[in-house]
Amino acid sequence: MATPNTQDIKRAVQERYAARATGAVAACCGPNAASAEPARGVYLGADLSALPGEVLLASAGCGNPTALADLKPGETVVDLGSGGGIDCFLAGRAVGPSGHVIGVDMTPQMLELARSNAQRVKAANVEFRQGEIEALPIQDATVDVVISNCVVCLSPDKDAVFQEAFRVLRPGGRLHISDMMLVGDLPQAIKDDPHRWAECVGGAEPKGTYLARLRKAGFQGVAVEEERRYSSEPGLENLRSVYVRAVRPRD
Ligand SMILES: C[S@@+](CC[C@H](N)C(=O)[O-])C[C@H]1O[C@@H](n2cnc3c(N)ncnc32)[C@H](O)[C@@H]1O
Repeated sequence: MATPNTQDIKRAVQERYAARATGAVAACCGPNAASAEPARGVYLGADLSALPGEVLLASAGCGNPTALADLKPGETVVDLGSGGGIDCFLAGRAVGPSGHVIGVDMTPQMLELARSNAQRVKAANVEFRQGEIEALPIQDATVDVVISNCVVCLSPDKDAVFQEAFRVLRPGGRLHISDMMLVGDLPQAIKDDPHRWAECVGGAEPKGTYLARLRKAGFQGVAVEEERRYSSEPGLENLRSVYVRAVRPRD
């Protein structure tokens, strides 16, 4: 199999998450796959207890990017690849009625699910926009915090994602991401398979490469907060769920 091109990856990702939104495939990740080890940057029972089952079922992340983001009332938050909306609803609760949360996702079925979940949660300060995280439908320097949960690993153009996150953040704005990364190599057959990309595996990059991309986009204070092994599948020994923080420097 040849290295997949951008279109093949995006098609596989959209097909997977369209099926996920309609309940046709189970999650490869999400709160049910949370580590049994004590860890920071994951969901706690108290985070989830007030959310409806539909929101939890749709969750497909590999951490909890709101956990260490220190969200404050009145802040504007953008969630890259918001899926069924779980992190948007947690962020919406933290920023309160004077704050605003924008979830961006490219899969129409996920947006439909997220919008119906917003009605269930009565999340008046959360909106969902269709778009690609490589070209965010958001104005420059209007956002306080960018979060994302197990999505950048799905993008064939991670530099574009980080440049866009930097563009929409105000100077001093923060980035908090949970994502899949590598601490060694992956079997080539996994890297070459668009369906393994869609499972948040094939597109995972070495941690150093990922952090260097953030710095190249202009971020400072790039730091790993938490890291844990994520899968016991043979071949995935080097896969990690990693929680990263960074800031857009003040001008
Ligand atoms: C693994 S799910 C994670 C969803 C959510 N963050 C969560 O934790 O439940 C990935 C989501 O990102 C979306 N996505 C993947 N690549 C994207 C891209 N390039 N632009 C916009 N959305 C994307 C998918 O449609 C899907 O809803």
